[in-house]
This record gives sequence, C-alpha cells and structure tokens, in this order.
Amino acid sequence: MTMVEKMALLLRFTFLAVVLANEAYTQLSSSSDFIISSCRRSLVQLDLPAQYVIRNYVRFSAVDENGAAHVISDSLATQCGYTISYNDWGDITFRTSLYSCYTQIMNDTYYTISVKVEISTRRDMGNAVSYMKVVSCPYVWSPREMICETNYMEVSVRRKIPVISEGVFRNEPEDWSTAFTQAVSGLMSVWQIVFHLSTTQKTTMLIDAAQSLGYGINTTESRILLRTPYNATQAIAQRIGGVTFSTVRATLFYKQRWFIFLVDNAVACPLDDVMFVNGWIVWTVPKNLSPLLTGAKIIQNSRIQFGVDLLNLTDDEILARNYDILDRNTVTVTRIPVGAVGGYYKSHSVDFQHGITYTIRPFLENMWVDDAWGVSKYTIIKDITTPFEPKPPVLTNETIPSTLTFNITVGTFLPDVQLVNLTINGVVLTVPQAVNLGCNIQNKTHANGSVNFVLKIPFGDDRVIKEVTSTGYVVTLPISIKDQYGNDLHSIMVSCDTPPNPPVCYPDGKIQVSVKKINNIPNMDLSRLSLMDRKCGPVSSDGITAQFTFTVNSCSTTRRFEGNMMIYENQISYVSAITGKVLFIMKVACNYTTNTTLVVDYIPTENPPPSLQTGFAPLDLVLRLSKGVDYSVFYEDPEYPVVKYLREPLYFEIELLYSSDPQLELFLDSCWATTSPDMRSLPAWPIIDNSCEHNEPYQTIFHSVMADARVQFPSHLKRFEVKTFTFMDGDITYTGEIYFHCDVIICGSNLGSDPACTQIGSCIPARQRLGRSVNTDYHRRISSRAVFLFASERNIDTKRFPNHQLLQDVHF
Ligand SMILES: *[C@@H]1O[C@H](CO)[C@@H](O)[C@H](O)[C@H]1NC(C)=O
Ligand SMILES: *[C@@H]1O[C@H](CO)[C@@H](O)[C@H](O)[C@H]1NC(C)=O
Ligand SMILES: *[C@@H]1O[C@H](CO)[C@@H](O)[C@H](O)[C@H]1NC(C)=O
Ligand SMILES: *[C@@H]1O[C@H](CO)[C@@H](O)[C@H](O)[C@H]1NC(C)=O
Ligand SMILES: *[C@@H]1O[C@H](CO)[C@@H](O)[C@H](O)[C@H]1NC(C)=O
Ligand SMILES: *[C@@H]1O[C@H](CO)[C@@H](O)[C@H](O)[C@H]1NC(C)=O
Ligand SMILES: *[C@@H]1O[C@H](CO)[C@@H](O)[C@H](O)[C@H]1NC(C)=O
Ligand SMILES: *[C@@H]1O[C@H](CO)[C@@H](O)[C@H](O)[C@H]1NC(C)=O
Ligand SMILES: *[C@@H]1O[C@H](CO)[C@@H](O)[C@H](O)[C@H]1NC(C)=O
Ligand SMILES: *[C@@H]1O[C@H](CO)[C@@H](O)[C@H](O)[C@H]1NC(C)=O
Ligand SMILES: *[C@@H]1O[C@H](CO)[C@@H](O)[C@H](O)[C@H]1NC(C)=O
Repeated sequence: MTMVEKMALLLRFTFLAVVLANEAYTQLSSSSDFIISSCRRSLVQLDLPAQYVIRNYVRFSAVDENGAAHVISDSLATQCGYTISYNDWGDITFRTSLYSCYTQIMNDTYYTISVKVEISTRRDMGNAVSYMKVVSCPYVWSPREMICETNYMEVSVRRKIPVISEGVFRNEPEDWSTAFTQAVSGLMSVWQIVFHLSTTQKTTMLIDAAQSLGYGINTTESRILLRTPYNATQAIAQRIGGVTFSTVRATLFYKQRWFIFLVDNAVACPLDDVMFVNGWIVWTVPKNLSPLLTGAKIIQNSRIQFGVDLLNLTDDEILARNYDILDRNTVTVTRIPVGAVGGYYKSHSVDFQHGITYTIRPFLENMWVDDAWGVSKYTIIKDITTPFEPKPPVLTNETIPSTLTFNITVGTFLPDVQLVNLTINGVVLTVPQAVNLGCNIQNKTHANGSVNFVLKIPFGDDRVIKEVTSTGYVVTLPISIKDQYGNDLHSIMVSCDTPPNPPVCYPDGKIQVSVKKINNIPNMDLSRLSLMDRKCGPVSSDGITAQFTFTVNSCSTTRRFEGNMMIYENQISYVSAITGKVLFIMKVACNYTTNTTLVVDYIPTENPPPSLQTGFAPLDLVLRLSKGVDYSVFYEDPEYPVVKYLREPLYFEIELLYSSDPQLELFLDSCWATTSPDMRSLPAWPIIDNSCEHNEPYQTIFHSVMADARVQFPSHLKRFEVKTFTFMDGDITYTGEIYFHCDVIICGSNLGSDPACTQIGSCIPARQRLGRSVNTDYHRRISSRAVFLFASERNIDTKRFPNHQLLQDVHF
C-alpha cells in the first residue's frame, strides 16, 4: 500500500484594470492642473490621467462665448468636432477640432476652446466636481484641410473670392459646375448645400436641414467648413485602391441677385484600411483619392508625415520602433509590429480565457499641391486595438523529484498582471501569507517587461492531503489560474512520481536497485523492465516495485573513469509492448572512490533533468609484505615493525580490494623508499620508475600473479621483490628504519575507453603493465609501515624490536 500526497494549489491573478482613485481630486479642489492640455496639429487635446478619473463618472461640456455649457453627447461630438476616448488603463483623452461648434475664433488664426469637465462618483453626476479648462492654439491653415477623426470627417476650404486670372473656366468640370443648375434655382441670400450622390443624382437642402441630419456646416471669416459622420445619409461607400472609403461630396452656395458663390467641399475617409497580419498591424492608405481631386490634373509635392498620438515621429524614431513605412506614388503602407513602442498592451480575461490586446493611435498626414485646389492637407487619425488574442498561461513543470519540491513556472504575463492569491487545499492565502508558510514564490521579469511566476511548494507541505492509492507512489498538485472575478482561466494537474531509492552499491560490485510502478504509463507490466542487457529483468516484483540485482560484470554494465572516480553505469528501461517506444529510462550508476560515492541518474523520458542521489561503498588498496616468494604468508599487524637483514629481500604485494570487475588492472606507476614515514622526505631511493623496474640491476624484480584459492582476479594484484642491500647512503649501504611507497593506477584492460590508461610510456615491461597515463586521475598512493634494515643480528636491540624474536623463530 503506498500513499499519495495530494496538494491543491489555486492561483488567482488580478489584472490591474482598477486603480484606486486619488482622493485629492474627489475633494473640492477647483484646480484643473491635472488636466493636461496641448495643441496638436489642427486639434486641441486634453488628457486626464487614469488616477484622477478611474472609478468615477466623467462628463465633458463645451462652453460657448456666453458661458453656456453644452453637454457633449455622441451625436454632438460627431456634429461639432469632439472626440472622447478611453484607454484600457483608464486614461481619458478629449480632442476637439479647432473648428468645433463652440470655438472662439480670432481672425481664423487663433482659436480658443473652453471645456467644462465634471467628475463624480455617481452616475447621475450628483456632487460632481467641475473643472474649467480654457486652451488657446494658433494655427495656420492650408487652402484645404481634411481630417479623418475616429468619429467624424471634417473638411474646411478657403473661401476667398478668387481674382480673375485664377477663375478662368477649365475644361475639366468641377463639382460646383454640376451644382450650378441647383444653385440657380435655389433660394436667395441663404447658404444652401448640394450633395453629389452620383454624377446625375444631386440633393439640395438648406443648411439647417443638413444640420438636422447630423452635418456640421459653418462659415468663418475666410473658410467654409463641412463636418460629417461616417454613416451620413448622403455618404457614399467607394472602393479606392482596394480600400473602402466613406465619401461625402457637396457644393455649398450662396446666391445674391447678380451672383452665385459656389464652394466645393469633399471629404473621403477610409473604413477598412487596417488589417492584422501575423503579429503586424498593416495600415494601407491609397493616395490620389479621386473624390478629393475633382478637376485636378497635376498633383505634385506629395509628402507624408507619420506619427503617434498626433505627435510627429522622425525617420530615426520610426526605425528605432521597428515600424515600417512604405511610401509609394499610389499608396502608403504602414506596418507596426504588435507590441511596438508607442502603443500599449492590456491583459484581459474574456470567456474564461486569458489574453491580450494591443492599442496604438497613429496618424498619417499627406500634403500635396494640385492645380485645382492648391495645397491640400489630408490627415487620418486611427485608434487601433488588435483583436483579443488568447494567451493561455503556460505552466512549466521543472520539478526534480529528488528535491521533494514542486517547481512550477507560470507565464508569460504582461506587466499588468499581478499574482494576488493562492488557494492551497481550499485555504485562500495572499502571496505574503503563502511565503510565510513555506512556499517560495518568485517573479522572473524579462527584458521586455513581461513576467513569469515561479512557485516552489514542498511535497510535504502541512496543508497537503494524504491519500492511499494502489497504482504507485505519486504526489499531485492541481493548479488552476483564476482571474479577479474568480473565473477559471486554466487548470492543470502536475503530478510527480516520487524519487526512486538510490541503488545500493556493494563493495564486491553487486548493485541492487528497485523501480516503482510509473503512474503515467498505463497498465505498466513491471516484468517488462530490463537492464541494458534485455535478458536482465527484475529478480522479483510485488506488482508495485520491481527489484534488480546485478553486478558490475554483468548485464552490459559499462565502466568509465572520471575525475577521481570509477563509475559503473547501467540503465533500466521500459519499452511499450505495443509501439516499441521507450517510455521510461532510469540510469543507475555507482561511483567508486577509495571512500566511495554513488549516484543515481533518474531520467523519465519526458522530463529530462536527472536527479542525483549519493551513497557510499568502499574500494580500497592494501600493501602487504610477504614472508616468502610464494606469497602465501604475510606479516600481520602485531609483527610490525618488521626487521630484515641486508641479505634478505622484501616481497611486496599490492591489491585492489573488494572489486569483482575482472577488466580492472592495477599498475604501479612508481615506488620508492624513504627513511621516514613522510613519502616526500629525503633521501629517497627509486624502486619502480615510470612503471619499470628501477634500472639498478637486480634491485627490483616483478613477480607474476596467478589465480589461486586466495587470488580471484590476478589483474587486481601486483607483486615485486626489493633487494635491501642496494640502498646506498653515500658509499655505505643504508641500515635503519625504512618505508616503502607506491603510486598506483587503476586501469581498464580496454585501454581505448579509459583515458587514464591510453598513454603508453617508453618502457613497457610485459610483466608490469599494458598501458598507463602519467596524468591519470585515478591515482592512489599507498605506503608500507616501518621496516628495519640491519647489517647483521648483532646490532639488534631486542627491547626495541621484540618481533625479532619471532623472526628468529621463523628463520632459524
Ligand atoms: C458657426 O460659427 C460661429 C462662429 O464661430 C459660431 O458662433 C456658431 O456656433 C457656429 N455654428 C455651428 C452650428 O457650428
Ligand atoms: C488678420 O490676419 C490678417 C492676415 O493674417 C492680418 O493681415 C490682419 O491684420 C489680422 N487682423 C487682426 C485683427 O488680427
Ligand atoms: C449613424 O450611426 C449612429 C451611431 O451608430 C446612429 O445613431 C445613426 O442613426 C446613424 N446614422 C445614419 C444616417 O445611419
Ligand atoms: C510635424 O510635421 C509637419 C509636417 O512635416 C510639420 O508641418 C509640423 O510643424 C511638425 N510638427 C511638429 C510639432 O514638429
Ligand atoms: C526551479 O526554479 C528556479 C527559480 O527559482 C529556476 O531558476 C530553475 O530553473 C527551476 N528549475 C530547476 C530544475 O531547478
Ligand atoms: C516582482 O517582484 C518584485 C519584487 O519582489 C515586485 O516589486 C513586483 O511587483 C513583482 N512583479 C509582479 C508582476 O508581481
Ligand atoms: C485574496 O485573499 C485575501 C485574503 O484571503 C482576500 O481578502 C482578497 O479579497 C483576495 N483577493 C482576491 C482578488 O481574490
Ligand atoms: C517577452 O520576453 C519573453 C522572454 O524572452 C517572451 O517569452 C515573451 O513572448 C515576450 N513578450 C512579448 C510581449 O514580447
Ligand atoms: C513534472 O516533472 C517531474 C519531474 O521531471 C515528473 O516526474 C512529473 O511526471 C512531471 N509532471 C507532469 C504533470 O508533467
Ligand atoms: C574520504 O577520505 C578522506 C581521506 O581519507 C576523508 O578525509 C574524507 O572524510 C572521506 N570522505 C568520506 C565521505 O568518507
Ligand atoms: C559520480 O560521478 C558523476 C560523473 O562524474 C558525477 O557527476 C557525480 O557528481 C558523481 N557523484 C558523486 C556523488 O560524487
């Protein structure tokens, strides 16, 4: 019976749609300084930052020269030249045409608008606080200016009476010429308007009749103005250069007894000029719009100006923002990457989905000169918001089971998303509360400002419910992401098979490891698990856990040397009986050093980061001193220090203990003798040098090792004999205390695969070794205990060397 720990985690994200109002402005302060005003081209703009208006109702009124306030409704805005826009962050922008109905105009060059702004917490505007904003802007008009505002189209033309040389009749008919019949039959001494619906169809009406249809028509000292809604009754939809335009063509006229004064006014604004293509906003504006060029033959000096929020952008700025503007003779195509500087993102949850929109307000102005109208300035203002793009939050499971902690990344979110609450097992916690209770919550902010949240929750969290199950050992973390209204945006179960136990590595090379049933492999048949050698299956299984036992010398176990370590590796895999696909791999490794560690690499196929487990097993060396050349009896611990006479040789044996790997071979890199236990001390006499017997004749002799009752793997041992009279101290033979030291290398017999053993030195004595490396990492040093050398028996102090007696017993 295994336990399942179950943990519920609920995330709730709050989008910063709501920002608290700044209390200062709900009081009776009459300063309107927080309203930012600016003259932008032929418009006046007022900006009300979100902090002053959010969660409030805001009303704008235009104030006329008598001080009367006219509340700006949608229809008044369209007719009189006002635009109110909100962005998703709650900022409000108010724009007015310089020729709005209630503008005070001085000499057609200086314009003053007065706006009353009321802010109230109540829908009925009760207790509203009022602010007056008066803004004056100078402006120099071109002979003809057209604006495509977001909610209306506006055209104004100069109405100065032309001097005779300019007024010569042309061959190409202008609109006024076709309106002439209507004008002649029209009323005297009143302005009237003829709408050109087609070349033959005209409608004539009085100005006030047109105004009641929603048109804004007025004359100033030097200009005539026509403002029209996009959907005006007399508007015609026209395809120009692949784009649909709403077009209104009109001739205004004024008749007195002996003359008729006619002024053509036409405006055409695009309706479907913006497209969204693969992350780009593509804005296509054709040039040379025929409704605006009636009677014109020659168009020249066409130039464009592009910008955002009615502010010019230089070519460098356009480049830096990655906008792409293609200005051709017939068309201007502007491409803006979604997300570019100049616009802003907003996160939303719509229909239980998290997603984003991007908004930008570019404008494009085209200025040209033609032979019918003189200079024309044509400006399109756009308020573009990309369609809602679902961006389901992505949960990335980076859990490493051995850390016993869920490591989950959630994202990517825009900076306007906040992690507010977590619900763990039904208990709602704010982020600081969750952190206090042991959850690790981090945010990873990217260079572009977007953010991921990283959550680390221990498997053993107090609030985890523990449940029994019979399929395996698993911890589960159900995660759901909710918006600020509590709607589920995304849910997922993150589960994790708990880490496997590390293998047990025995000193004799036996490896034992168990594998638990993997939860996400349906109907897993544990008996189908195998080691590298497919013939090596589990030795036992209880239906939940399979046990493997193998040795470093079986089941295709591989061995390699790395650092100061010898590593045996194998892997247990599970292959689908149906598809033949490997569904699960678990690496098993034992690292051996003299104080040995071992490692488990646990790699389920779908979740590659391996886990590491550490264990220990001994692997060691021993240096023995034999009592004879047959290497059958050795000096035991109590017999040290061993006493020897100069004529007696010393028989050494070095063995690699515990290993059952027959492919290993022990080599003696160098051996030497010193007069003190310190292996670095001087004097020092070489015995084995660069893997060879020291070149002093007969000093050192290697002895071969054969398998016998005691020796299972001869390659794990090396034997050599040392003649004791060869240690010279100046001219005389050294007598006294002496210690022996060896540098040992352990190599695989398969030289190519073991970098430590690939280098072949100059001396290759057959009895000693096959190969070795000077730089080998798997070096071990081993030293003998004390041996005393005496010239003859007479010199022996029996008190100091009680074992001498024993020695005598053996030898004499
Ligand atoms: C026309 O212009 C005059 C002078 O600027 C102004 O007083 C009047 O309100 C305007 N009328 C309309 C309907 O725009
Ligand atoms: C009006 O403007 C014209 C030309 O811009 C100028 O000559 C005239 O003096 C101005 N009149 C006033 C009263 O400012
Ligand atoms: C134009 O649209 C507005 C707002 O949708 C509507 O109130 C008005 O009636 C429409 N006008 C015409 C002439 O269709
Ligand atoms: C913006 O560009 C237009 C046309 O290039 C120019 O007439 C105008 O002065 C510029 N405005 C600013 C504020 O630079
Ligand atoms: C776990 O979370 C940290 C963030 O603290 C992240 O840097 C790391 O890559 C995640 N994954 C792992 C495997 O540790
Ligand atoms: C990210 O963390 C910082 C500091 O921990 C915090 O100030 C900021 O608000 C966090 N950002 C988000 C989007 O949660
Ligand atoms: C977050 O949790 C706190 C404490 O439980 C609660 O007061 C608050 O309303 C929650 N916020 C949201 C957005 O659910
Ligand atoms: C921001 O950067 C992150 C990480 O590079 C990326 O995943 C994300 O898509 C980027 N977001 C945007 C809006 O560019
Ligand atoms: C999460 O990652 C862990 C460790 O890689 C893995 O055991 C577990 O199956 C994964 N869970 C999911 C739902 O991907
Ligand atoms: C390994 O051996 C060294 C020296 O013999 C010793 O200092 C160290 O503590 C040992 N390490 C372990 C993990 O036993
Ligand atoms: C075992 O050896 C591998 C490979 O060198 C190494 O990554 C790992 O850290 C070692 N394990 C231990 C416990 O030293």
